[in-house]
Amino acid sequence: MERVGNGIWKLRFGVPETHTPVQLSEARMRHKELDGLSRNSPPINPNDVTFRRTSRGTVLELPLQASENIYGFGLQLKRMNHTGRKKVIRVNSDPVADTGDSHAPVPFYVSTAGYGVFVDTARYVTFYCGTNPQKGTSRDATLAAQKLGTSERELYEKHIDQGNRNMSIDVPSVDGVDVYLFEGPTMKDVVQRYNLFSGGGCLPPMWGLGMWYRIYTKADSGDAKRLANLFREERMPIDVFGLEPGWQSRSYSCSFAWSEERFPDHEEFITTLNAMNYRVNLWEHAFTHPSSEMYWDLLPYSGNFEVWGGLVPDLGMQESRDVFAGYHLDRFVKQGISGFKLDECDNSDYVQSNWSFPDIATFPSGMDGEQMHNLFGLLYQSTLQSAFESVGERTYSQVRSSGPLASSYPFVLYSDLYKHEDFIRGIVNSGFSGLLWTPEVRSADSVEDLIRRIQTTVFSPLALLNCWTFPNPPWMQVDEDKNRNGEFFDDYEEVQKVCRSLFELRMKLIPYLYSSFAEYFFTGTPPFRALVLDYPDDANTYEIDDAYMMGESMLVAPLVAGQTKRMVYLPLGTWRDFWTHEVFEGENWYEVEADLYHIPVFVKDNTLLPLANPVQYVADDAVFDITVQVFGDSPRGFFLYEDDGTTFEYREGKYNKVYISWDIDHGGSVKRVGDYPGARYRIVDWAIGT
Ligand code: GAL
Repeated sequence: MERVGNGIWKLRFGVPETHTPVQLSEARMRHKELDGLSRNSPPINPNDVTFRRTSRGTVLELPLQASENIYGFGLQLKRMNHTGRKKVIRVNSDPVADTGDSHAPVPFYVSTAGYGVFVDTARYVTFYCGTNPQKGTSRDATLAAQKLGTSERELYEKHIDQGNRNMSIDVPSVDGVDVYLFEGPTMKDVVQRYNLFSGGGCLPPMWGLGMWYRIYTKADSGDAKRLANLFREERMPIDVFGLEPGWQSRSYSCSFAWSEERFPDHEEFITTLNAMNYRVNLWEHAFTHPSSEMYWDLLPYSGNFEVWGGLVPDLGMQESRDVFAGYHLDRFVKQGISGFKLDECDNSDYVQSNWSFPDIATFPSGMDGEQMHNLFGLLYQSTLQSAFESVGERTYSQVRSSGPLASSYPFVLYSDLYKHEDFIRGIVNSGFSGLLWTPEVRSADSVEDLIRRIQTTVFSPLALLNCWTFPNPPWMQVDEDKNRNGEFFDDYEEVQKVCRSLFELRMKLIPYLYSSFAEYFFTGTPPFRALVLDYPDDANTYEIDDAYMMGESMLVAPLVAGQTKRMVYLPLGTWRDFWTHEVFEGENWYEVEADLYHIPVFVKDNTLLPLANPVQYVADDAVFDITVQVFGDSPRGFFLYEDDGTTFEYREGKYNKVYISWDIDHGGSVKRVGDYPGARYRIVDWAIGT
């Protein structure tokens, strides 16, 4: 067992493959920050881990105690607690069932016992999380059990094996593998270590935390500008304006060239939008159309199968990364494009057309299709990130597939699935594995559905309305067909008013969110995370997949259409209603009611919550006027993080921590410490009570 960092251990079995997440990762482990974390002891005795070769590849067995609960495995939309389940870590664009398939599968899990395990492989590895005891283990207990009846319930009731068992990990096709163990002592420490091992959390540009709107795919530059003007005139805060496939001359596969027909003067278009303080984001996927200028350069460095008539660039090779990143830099980044939506870098098995490349594909780097699938989204992110790095500009972008060691990439996952409950679970689960997820809003079944979904997206890493299938804003009409036909609600201005107040709520939260992301960067603590990560000793949190922590102090419990109330569990401590400041004692379940205008949110007692006066957009020189909400009589101080908001100079120490504190006798005080010469925040008021 080799110690690779403070509280991180590597075990090598047999001869590992060359194309693994760690081998391909460019992330640098954050030793300094890791050294700041407290130590435990090696989480698992290496002698308790067994390894054997099989006809399928390699099998690892690790102990799993009866009391442990297991979380992680990437963006799992269908389940949070994986104890007793089988999970196949395989990338997929339609993860419709609880199989492990995911847009962002990650062979990493964290246990309530306070340790984590990462298997360094790009293979479709299967984790059997204590599904079956070894033979003979339960003989005595089975014999001693009461005789079973023959009712359907007695025969088929879900049977979960109790007692100590194993985590069995089946890594196909390999002769060996590296396994990394992460120490606690708490689950949160484990996840922090995993994220710091991955290079730390990303810090998005400040504007990325505003509202996002993706427009109708058939829109031309005139339509787009009309919408852009409308948002500003009607005071609907929007920061990022996303274009869908229609901006390109060819999009399935991609030409990566502007459509002459719809965007004849694209330079003028970008300049106009940027001048209105919109950041422009472009949709694409990596499959390269023969008409693309990159085609011939990429041809020798691509896989042996086409997708939609386009090349599959081998982004595991520097040559194709250079072509791809260089082209994006010259044609888009330097022209004012702020980011991309990297679509279809997952895989398809469950929809009618199997559109992606097969697992048997081969790539010049030596990777096969299976490995490429599990790493494609990751390589795609790092390729485009390098274009932004080269000009010292931050991006906040979208991606439909990710994987292991991804926390430092400022790319946020999304899906074509749409169940609101799954989308909330995505926020909860992504934080276990260094991922970010947006529960995007598309069309809706009703105004209620629209508003509930917007509430969830406002309390998420990326607040997005993805209106790619209809031309008018959803507050005018939620039904796609009617929206396209121009049939609007009679009272749409009322709906718009509710949407506006939610967008403004998001804008108020930006300083708090930005500071939470700084925490992610500095300490690896996920800005959005399951309650169990903060309260691992409280068994009530083990199954809570419909509420989550946002930053240090806020607990968010969204409602879905059809609900006017729900049960909310508040863990240890005293909590206050975000809206009314009403006090709730923790370690209790509450039935919480909320009208359509409110989402249940609770704040830890004795919190200082900085809320900004909402602006319409986050300009490069934006300064936020902040009212500090004082929750409780003796609040803890809070560090607001500030920097230039757009460059990487924070990595060289150019940032401030603005320490705000308050006490009952003297009121509030503000202290600014750091090397950033500017100021992003003006504390204008302190609000006590509601
Ligand atoms: C899908 C993507 C959607 C939208 C669409 C456009 O693959 O998930 O959000 O961008 O492509 O064709």
